[in-house]
Amino acid sequence: MTELAKKLIARDHRISITILIVKFPLTPEVNDRIQSLAASVAGIRFVDLPQLDLPSLDMARTPEAMVSIFLEAHKPYVNNTITQLFFTPESSDSKSARLAGLFMDMSCTPMIDVANELGIPSYIFFASSACSLGLFLHLPVLDTYIQSDFKDSETEFTIPSFKTPVPPQILPVAFWSKKQDGYDWLVYHGRRFKEAKGIIVNTFAELEPHAVHSLSLDGSTPPVYPVGPLLDLQGLIHSESNQSIKTWLDGQPSSSVVFLCFGSMGSFSALQAREIAIGLERSGHRFLWSLRQPPQEGQFSPTAYMNLEEILPEGFMTRTAGRGLVCEWVPQVAVLAHHAIGGFVSHCGWNSILESLWFGVPIATWALHGEQHLNAFEMVKELGGLVVELRLDYRGGDDLARTEEMERAIGCLMDSDCAVRKKVKETNEKSRMAMMDGGSSFNSLGSLIQDLMDES
Ligand SMILES: *[C@@H]1O[C@H](CO)[C@@H](O)[C@H](O)[C@H]1NC(C)=O
Ligand SMILES: *[C@@H]1O[C@H](CO)[C@@H](O)[C@H](O)[C@H]1NC(C)=O
Repeated sequence: MTELAKKLIARDHRISITILIVKFPLTPEVNDRIQSLAASVAGIRFVDLPQLDLPSLDMARTPEAMVSIFLEAHKPYVNNTITQLFFTPESSDSKSARLAGLFMDMSCTPMIDVANELGIPSYIFFASSACSLGLFLHLPVLDTYIQSDFKDSETEFTIPSFKTPVPPQILPVAFWSKKQDGYDWLVYHGRRFKEAKGIIVNTFAELEPHAVHSLSLDGSTPPVYPVGPLLDLQGLIHSESNQSIKTWLDGQPSSSVVFLCFGSMGSFSALQAREIAIGLERSGHRFLWSLRQPPQEGQFSPTAYMNLEEILPEGFMTRTAGRGLVCEWVPQVAVLAHHAIGGFVSHCGWNSILESLWFGVPIATWALHGEQHLNAFEMVKELGGLVVELRLDYRGGDDLARTEEMERAIGCLMDSDCAVRKKVKETNEKSRMAMMDGGSSFNSLGSLIQDLMDES
């Protein structure tokens, strides 16, 4: 959202931006990150909303339900804050500025009510793919004509944003059962997207031509603006602080290192970590591996393994010393930008895919949660082999990705003749073109600004 804000103000000096910050109690590290962001980004005002309690700490609640209920509870505060900032006689903004739009994340659609009452147009900022956006928009339709739980469906789903039929088990777990807590929220959000004046997607038309086109066909969907890839490349600068990883990468040959990183919520059991380790060792390739353990009792986010020697195969650290580095947290963008990186084993979060394409690094897919399986499926099937398939159906638990699978996927990924590598190179060029003057995303951002400025 901040990257979008930066692009908007850089493009048109008439625009100013206020970002309302929701404080999520379970991830204090995110709040810290926002504080440092607020301090470093010029020209954007960050305003804190009051810290609210979570609806209930009942862990039987799915994250989708918990987050949606929590965000909905912010409605009166968003209402008050906007009123105070823009619509009271004392507020300086009430005289000079016109509020052009309220932009909201995909889980904040109840705020459309606030925008309507205040007479401000609503815009959805959808931080994932156009394919996933299409799934959300189509969900209310699927919901009415499919009676069974989606997971039990014997047929694959036809979703307009996908050319290929989508197998039920590729859908995010939250969509699997109608009885599941949180499912109704997904249908609700999908329905409300259509009330927005526009939907901004972090993608570029050349990456997902079919999906982007499909969204313009259905007459009831508001205009969709693909303005991506929006990436936090500034992260490159902040993370220079992590010298040890950089020094190690500087000492490796070009395109020789396979990088394994699974996002802010990615973690592996000791058993799974062992399989990965053996696969890495057998592959013979250099590696940088960001490894964390599942959240500990009472925690929300993964944590560091205290003693790696204890969980990895005996002698692994000694045998791979020099050619491999296991670490906890990595500055992902800075690592992907480094010339030593030749391949990326990723959970396929949408930002990770966009970052990897931006730096032309091929991916092997290992989706873990949320819509990551759908992203991986899109990259493998829909876009014709833009990634190496490691696993499409992994759901953790007893299901381990085995040594042999790791070894095969890494071998394929790091092969310099790999077909995926060529395709990634082409897409890499397209992603950079899209953001340049006259490029598709550049133009799309221009039309968005025009629509914002259009008072009627
Ligand atoms: C916003 O606040 C006004 C004034 O306090 C109130 O009348 C209105 O119902 C509120 N709207 C929403 C959507 O909360
Ligand atoms: C840098 O990386 C090393 C190795 O993973 C880690 O131990 C250290 O905490 C990191 N430092 C910072 C400042 O992030």
